[in-house]
Amino acid sequence: MKYLSVKEIIEIEPDGKEVVLTGWIRTLRESKNVVFLEIGDGSTTKSIQAVFSSNSEMFSSLRHELGTGASVEITGRLVISPGQGQSSELQSEKLRVIGKADSDYVLQKKRHSFDFLRTVPHLRGRTNTFGAIFRLRSFLSMAVHQYFSERGFFLVHTPIITGSDCEGAGEMFQVTTLPLHEVPRAEGLTDYSQDFFGAKASLTVSGQLEGEALALALRRIYTFGPTFRAENSNTARHLSEFWMIEPEMAFCDISDNMELAEDFIRVLLQRTLAECPDEMEFFDSRIAPGLIKSLDKVAGSDFVKMSYTEAVDRLRDSGEAFEFPVSWGCDLQSEHEKFLTEKICQSPVILTDYPAEIKAFYMKDNADGKTVRAMDVLVPRLGEIIGGSERENDILALKGKMIKAGLNPENYRRYLDLRKYGSVPHAGFGLGFERLIQYVTGMQNIRDVIPYPRTPRILD
Ligand code: 4AD
Ligand code: MG
Repeated sequence: MKYLSVKEIIEIEPDGKEVVLTGWIRTLRESKNVVFLEIGDGSTTKSIQAVFSSNSEMFSSLRHELGTGASVEITGRLVISPGQGQSSELQSEKLRVIGKADSDYVLQKKRHSFDFLRTVPHLRGRTNTFGAIFRLRSFLSMAVHQYFSERGFFLVHTPIITGSDCEGAGEMFQVTTLPLHEVPRAEGLTDYSQDFFGAKASLTVSGQLEGEALALALRRIYTFGPTFRAENSNTARHLSEFWMIEPEMAFCDISDNMELAEDFIRVLLQRTLAECPDEMEFFDSRIAPGLIKSLDKVAGSDFVKMSYTEAVDRLRDSGEAFEFPVSWGCDLQSEHEKFLTEKICQSPVILTDYPAEIKAFYMKDNADGKTVRAMDVLVPRLGEIIGGSERENDILALKGKMIKAGLNPENYRRYLDLRKYGSVPHAGFGLGFERLIQYVTGMQNIRDVIPYPRTPRILD
């Protein structure tokens, strides 16, 4: 590559050698006869200060093109900076404006609300905050792949277009080439044999069902791909399109699964703290004070384990007035999950053995006839970040659970086959990648940890 990045230039010894700096103007400051241009390029949290004499002819002739956001190429000598806050600066000799920024550039002013920045998703990546978030997102993606490949897991690509509703919640986006204006509106009237795939098709809500088939072939697999949910929930922790990491393991029960989930989160936290110190300091000082200390503590201690039944008892006994009252059999709301992790346990919590009624059909029954081998990992500030379980591996039990859930076993023949030919105990979980990034960065709203958030009415 012809040019070095800002990150690479910062690593050079500032001994007066000539350097060509390219990037975007962050700020321009004049004092006496000197002009300071802060140049950044998103490769690091840091920027480089380029210093000019404002009397120089070259500078004066270009002055009108040098606004915030303009892209420039500056040649100069890299020297030790006399100023505070940076170790090197560029004594500039030559300046070229590559692309000027029109005066209506919205990122001029210093601080913008996240609400406003969501309206300019194509530009917000240039701010310090979003630069740090997207760099961290990239780091964590790589760390996820590294974690699994070091432990003998194979990456499998499960389909995005699918015919089955893994979670059974009916929150699917349909995929069709039928002419919408001609299709009858009432369900049951449409002849899907005329549709592109010859049957009703949707975007996947989870790669788990296909992942199970691959785990029963390759032993340990994981998926890391986009998933889609047409839930109409406008909250700070729901997206319609989000990325999920789903490991699945054969010859593995619920306790192995819990152990993996806990180790996985802890290792990701440890690596982020050790390898992204600049970004983490930025989040700690600007977004969530105390973040590093709290993540450091979590990275080094055991998660609390508790059954759903005990959690319900503890929540009820707490005397807290919840918006949604708690009783055995209810689905826990995020207010309950936060109270458990923040007030009762002051730690991430793995909740297990949920009532069968509130969990998906594929989870293995416990002997009590009421609960299933489910596990949710809950963290302070957010609530649920992982949902998983041991899978029902007995074919008769599984058929019974499908019928109870209103599903037709005929539509799940291949999934049932896995229980006919060499069935084994197996388990897995799904980690919402954006929730993980929210947890690590301290960002309040999930829409701010993915470059282009997809939520209800977003394209309106
Ligand atoms: O708990 P969920 O629905 O579990 C599954 O989909 C299982 N099939 C996973 C498995 O066992 N392989 O979703 C898993 C995680 C949640 O814990 C949450 O972190 C995230 O996915 N998630 C969402 N993240 C953002 N927006 C949404 N609308 C989400 N729904 C779930
Ligand atoms: Mg869940």
